[in-house]
Amino acid sequence: MDKKYQNNHDYRELALVTSGQPCSDGAGVQLTRLIGNDELTMLDPFLLLDVFQSDKPQDYIGGFPSHPHRGFETVTYMLAGHMRHKDNVGNEGVISANGVQWMTAGRGIVHSEMPEQESGLLKGLQLWVNLPKAHKMTAPHYQEFSADTITVEKREDGGEVRVISGKTNNDITGVVINHFVEPTFMHVTLPNNALFKQNITKEDKAFIYVISGQVSIGNTSKTLNKEQLGILEGGTCIKVEAGSETSFLLVSAAPLNEPVVRSGPFVMNTKAEIMQAFSDLQNNRF
Ligand code: FE2
Repeated sequence: MDKKYQNNHDYRELALVTSGQPCSDGAGVQLTRLIGNDELTMLDPFLLLDVFQSDKPQDYIGGFPSHPHRGFETVTYMLAGHMRHKDNVGNEGVISANGVQWMTAGRGIVHSEMPEQESGLLKGLQLWVNLPKAHKMTAPHYQEFSADTITVEKREDGGEVRVISGKTNNDITGVVINHFVEPTFMHVTLPNNALFKQNITKEDKAFIYVISGQVSIGNTSKTLNKEQLGILEGGTCIKVEAGSETSFLLVSAAPLNEPVVRSGPFVMNTKAEIMQAFSDLQNNRF
């Protein structure tokens, strides 16, 4: 590792911790919304983060029937169970645990996201990544990767880093190709007491979501527990110590610093563009 990071302890620290808010979306799917609620409206360029987790079919069976999006990207990452994506551009696929669907809605797409099971545990996350003003009307695009096609960095301590996008300190690069916002999206699994470091650009926004176990962050060693999201601010290196066997997502990206106007499934820069999106949908221009 670059000596600079070892010597000056320029680490990110936990600036905000949230457990999100319960809500329901789609056809009655029970969720916890961690970003995109009253408490945390966004973390530029991340507009929304939902976690769904239930072994009760009535909590998820309705899924997310056909609905539109414009102006951003949706990233679905599964931890248990199966989710089928189908869209009006001709893409269709199912992912299971540790698989990812990365959809660039761009100028408009209509898709459905349906659980591919009638019983058992369904668990996963959906992240919305905003698109820059200059590319909101780009052609829709869909990328899908199953667990066995995702790059995995094996650590000496027995842990692993699943690199969905971005690059680790050991130059392992993720499988998802992004042309607009280029987020880092990693799923890190560590044994107890392990130490994980990831360099980050000073200006980038970053969060960690703890899937299991607990971690402590930075020099202050503030703790982040299971099912909590922590926003990391400050330095140019993220330092995480495992307080138990743990698994977490690390997500970061450069902020867009552009105006955001959102209405349901559309996220644009002005009210007029939102009105246009509703008009285009009604007139079958998606
Ligand atoms: Fe969707």
